[in-house]
Amino acid sequence: MLRIAIIIGSTRPGRKGAGVAKWVYDIAQKRSDAEFELVDIKDYDLPLLDEPVSPTMGQEYTHQHTKIWSAKIASFDAYVFVTPEYNHGTSGALKNAIDFLYHEWVNKAAGFVGYGGAAGTRAVENLRLVMGELQVATVRAQVGLSLFTDYENFSDFTPAGHQEGSVNAMLDQVIAWGGALRAMREKT
Ligand SMILES: Cc1cc2nc3c(=O)[nH]c(=O)nc-3n(C[C@H](O)[C@H](O)[C@H](O)COP(=O)(O)O)c2cc1C
Repeated sequence: MLRIAIIIGSTRPGRKGAGVAKWVYDIAQKRSDAEFELVDIKDYDLPLLDEPVSPTMGQEYTHQHTKIWSAKIASFDAYVFVTPEYNHGTSGALKNAIDFLYHEWVNKAAGFVGYGGAAGTRAVENLRLVMGELQVATVRAQVGLSLFTDYENFSDFTPAGHQEGSVNAMLDQVIAWGGALRAMREKT
């Protein structure tokens, strides 16, 4: 069974990201074509990148926190990044967590759920560029949640009715591409 991580991309106290990711996870749990796991970068206590050698070199990591994070990310076939938009990009915490690793991401698939004042669109575009360097295949279908139309008073999460369909459309593509890439990895 394909294993897909739903990665919570924000860490600040009071973050909306945990609620959004749980909602995505609950929708995903209704499916039987993949296994899903919530991955909270906050749980991994990653400092600002402190490995002396770039992960592209494939050397053994020096820190236990990197080894634990590496094993977790390597165990998945595909990822759904749940990203806030901070100053027209993704969060520093998520970018830092991504930068810790390299080969763990390569030849996997990814989809995105963005949220924010402008539905996280620019944060997702930012992440797509990063994924290109990591050789991650990003799917077209994406979810954008707006603080104006998917929250009440900018605080209570009340996703519009069509958003569940958007999540499933994105997951359909992540599962299709994730499966194709897993087959390719198994061959090589
Ligand atoms: C530092 C910071 C920068 C932000 N920049 C933007 C932005 O550029 N565009 C936008 O639409 N929303 C922006 N927002 C609003 C966030 O997307 C929104 O508060 C969201 O809930 C943040 O995710 P979090 O609650 O999981 O931390 C910003 C919020 C913060 C805290």
